[in-house]
Amino acid sequence: MNLYDRIPNNVNLSEDKKLQRALEKWLPNYLDWWREMGPEGFQEKDVWLRTAVDVGSEGWAHFDYVKMPDYRWGIFLEPPQPDARVGFGDNYGRPAYQEVPGEFRNALRRIIVTQGDTEPASVEQQRQLGKTCPSLYDLRNLFQVNVEEGRHLWAMVYLLHGYFGRDGRDEADELLERRSGNPDKPRILEAFNQPCDDWLNFFAFTMFTDRDGKYQLSALAESGFEPLARTCQFMLTEEAHHMFVGDTGLGRVCRRTAQLMKEGDVRELGGIPLEIIQKYINFWFSYSLDLFGGEISSNSADFFAAGLKGRYKERDQYTDHSATNENFTMTIVEDGQLKTREVPLRNALNEVLRGEYVKDCEKGLARWNKVLAEEGASERLYLPHPRFHRHVGEFAGHTFDLQGNLISREEFESRKSEWLPTIEDREYVRSLMHPVFEVGKIANWIAPPAAGIKGKPFDYEYVRL
Ligand SMILES: [Fe+2]
Ligand SMILES: [Fe+2]
Repeated sequence: MNLYDRIPNNVNLSEDKKLQRALEKWLPNYLDWWREMGPEGFQEKDVWLRTAVDVGSEGWAHFDYVKMPDYRWGIFLEPPQPDARVGFGDNYGRPAYQEVPGEFRNALRRIIVTQGDTEPASVEQQRQLGKTCPSLYDLRNLFQVNVEEGRHLWAMVYLLHGYFGRDGRDEADELLERRSGNPDKPRILEAFNQPCDDWLNFFAFTMFTDRDGKYQLSALAESGFEPLARTCQFMLTEEAHHMFVGDTGLGRVCRRTAQLMKEGDVRELGGIPLEIIQKYINFWFSYSLDLFGGEISSNSADFFAAGLKGRYKERDQYTDHSATNENFTMTIVEDGQLKTREVPLRNALNEVLRGEYVKDCEKGLARWNKVLAEEGASERLYLPHPRFHRHVGEFAGHTFDLQGNLISREEFESRKSEWLPTIEDREYVRSLMHPVFEVGKIANWIAPPAAGIKGKPFDYEYVRL
């Protein structure tokens, strides 16, 4: 572990002078980007952050006060497995690739760039949120997520620089040039160009959009291209915290809303009505589903065949790793009607991964509904049907209600304001967003967390202002 190198790493960077020089050249550009596009207004503050210092499952993180620009962003890969093999596809059982297989070079670069682009994008989307934090605990969690997304960018840039030559270096530069929501140089995926300018958006984003990240990274963590697999395995350990922030954040909003419902009108009492929470769920869940790609995809078949992108828990969950003899039944739209179609399983792997994701999201909904029940509310939250409000794949270009029934565009337009956040909803939520910077205090629209961070109480000075 070379923690005190200019770029902390566990990949023996100092033995690869060319790569080290390239990354050291990229470092100041990264820091410029961080100062320009990272959290606004808090760069010089001490934040109680965890920093990766070891990839072991125990004690890999070190907690201390750090100014964000001084965070030790580094390159950490899970240790190599002895005798690693390709775990699926046509090359099943052959030695894992240590270099990029030539015919998949462009495709793999695209996967890494697309994943890498989401990391700085989310930092950009969230850069104003610190100014309206509901508590110092939440402010610290926001910044923890932000610095780790920065480290995930490093993880992807390491792969681009290390394995893709000049093209990879150019792509790494461009990752710092695109900007979330900028019409001239937008981020690659649409969910990452949507504004995330209030904390309800932030919690829904970390719940639903970071969770897409978990499933993409899990599929790549199975990869037969070993450096990619080991990189993604370690990113997943950090990603778990991001989803915790979103999941528990929305749970706390639900708790507070249910408490206020017992006292009277939630709006008059300064809380967030359940209908608005539901609309935010509908919005972010549907945009996040798009991130899995088209339902029927020859790319997914090619990546699987090549042993580059597996299924969720491919090694643990499946016995047949070739996926050649099976079909997958899916619903599509044909001649203006919903029909079922049999698709070779390998062409349906985006949909298979999306299905795993939906199951995981349902567990989150069950947790929030348990909170509502605990507080005596009879209302329940739910996920919209996966066909609802889609912009990618088989259902893009068609309109559906929350139950997944095909409806006319006119009907969708006339009912949209019941289903998705309106400008008024967003303005109302924004009107509640006043910062609470006092130690141990919390905004009125959210309940405090069940516990603090790493054994510290809620009323700990997580950020020194
Ligand atoms: Fe990430
Ligand atoms: Fe994340």
